[in-house]
Amino acid sequence: MSDGAHAEKIIDGKAFAGALRGRIARAVSDLRERHGLTPGLAVVLVGEDPASQVYVRNKGKQTQEAGMASFEHRLPENTSQEELLDLVRQLNDDPAVHGILVQLPLPKQIDSAAVLDGIDPAKDVDGFHVINAGRLATGQAALVPCTPLGCLMLLKDRLGDLSGKRAVVVGRSNIVGKPMAQLLLAENCTVTVAHSRTQDLAAECRRADILIAAVGRPEMIRGDWIAPGATVIDVGINRIEGADGKGRLVGDVAFEEAVKVAGAITPVPGGVGPMTIACLLANTLTAACRAKGIAEPDLTSSN
Ligand code: GUN
Repeated sequence: MSDGAHAEKIIDGKAFAGALRGRIARAVSDLRERHGLTPGLAVVLVGEDPASQVYVRNKGKQTQEAGMASFEHRLPENTSQEELLDLVRQLNDDPAVHGILVQLPLPKQIDSAAVLDGIDPAKDVDGFHVINAGRLATGQAALVPCTPLGCLMLLKDRLGDLSGKRAVVVGRSNIVGKPMAQLLLAENCTVTVAHSRTQDLAAECRRADILIAAVGRPEMIRGDWIAPGATVIDVGINRIEGADGKGRLVGDVAFEEAVKVAGAITPVPGGVGPMTIACLLANTLTAACRAKGIAEPDLTSSN
């Protein structure tokens, strides 16, 4: 991370996510007291991918810390698509489960899109179902993918109204880039989506008041690609080998260069990363409230 000289520019996602989880825990406790409702999140892990195991463990832990019910389902690597779909259908029908997350990536024999679209859209707390993608794109109440939702919260907290700002999203994945663009459009930004075939990517980035980096390429976005004063949100989490031979995490943005130019920037780690699980919990709470016709708590306010 940078020295103290740029401390005021750092967007502290870790602190913001911690505060958000606190507000969620209070809302969950309130829901139980007033309505006898405990939101439940089911996470499904197929196979032994080490990174996925860490994610799933953290999700379960933070779900319980928020006072929600956590259901973990671990299936072997050779699970068939039909077996996985059977479990998804069982969870769709379980009234104690308000959110379902099938951890990606799935083993080769399974068609991920078919599984994601087998989840009840009302329980799709990842926001990956085509119904939720379509609702987001058409301005209807949707469950929104967690990482872009977290980015938007950090942006609004730092900048307030985003209307009229020029936003450049680098990356066009269904999980981050595309939903991020839709969210920024809904906030009245002028949105450009850039990607690997974009001509003169640096010039596109230089036009941004808000730059979202979601390409998965370590430190690809350099300091001189950033307009002075721009707000930079770095979604990348890349493990590289440092000069000392040890592994370290870096984003898609060359942080030490960028922090000198940007008006505000998220670090890696400690920026967007911690927001993803916090937003997953927020989506689970939202799904539980909608399932019961209960007004959704305002998670943006600290009261
Ligand atoms: N694998 C890595 N990140 C995610 C995520 O946000 N959701 C799911 N379902 N799988 C993931």
